[in-house]
Amino acid sequence: MKSLILYSSLTGNTKKIAYSIYDAIQGEKDIKNISELVDYSINYENYDIVFLGYWVDKGICDKNSKQVVENIHNKKIALFGTMGASTKGSYGDSIIEKIESIISKDNEILGSFICQGKIAEGLKAKYEEISKLYPENEHIREQLNNYEESQNHPNKQEICEASIFAKDMMIKASTM
Ligand SMILES: Cc1cc2nc3c(=O)[nH]c(=O)nc-3n(C[C@H](O)[C@H](O)[C@H](O)COP(=O)(O)O)c2cc1C
Repeated sequence: MKSLILYSSLTGNTKKIAYSIYDAIQGEKDIKNISELVDYSINYENYDIVFLGYWVDKGICDKNSKQVVENIHNKKIALFGTMGASTKGSYGDSIIEKIESIISKDNEILGSFICQGKIAEGLKAKYEEISKLYPENEHIREQLNNYEESQNHPNKQEICEASIFAKDMMIKASTM
């Protein structure tokens, strides 16, 4: 079984999860940073499973991973991502649902993993300004509510959970 891990990461949180997935799985495997691909061109032919990693940007996956999400077909996919807001509760659930919904139905989504990532330093002040102007903006509000907590993520436990997720996905891919 051959695996491909594709990830997009602006500040390193999703990259951390991507490498913990890469380290956890057995067999032939490749890992690629989407932003380093030329024209998002990927030959999926030889891969049995694609782990696809994104960071959340304004309530959806970032634009690099979106290019991949919207153009992948007939594959077994395991999604993983990081976000600044809490992953628990309706906001976190809505993010996963939204991202899964833009994947073409000819793929098989084996599962989704999401965890918190540190919100970059410097964004807090900017978010507070935006929040004054647009208090109804839930993406900003949810991140501000979680800013302090986010600073220590992804943590050891989340790295461990990502490894377990990766192994589960490999079992699923080989049996489904
Ligand atoms: C421009 C920008 C937009 C963001 N939008 C959201 C958002 O809508 N919801 C959220 O929960 N986190 C949001 N975040 C936080 C990131 O998703 C989070 O810090 C993530 O872990 C970054 O991953 P990376 O380090 O792999 O780039 C945003 C961060 C940036 C820089």
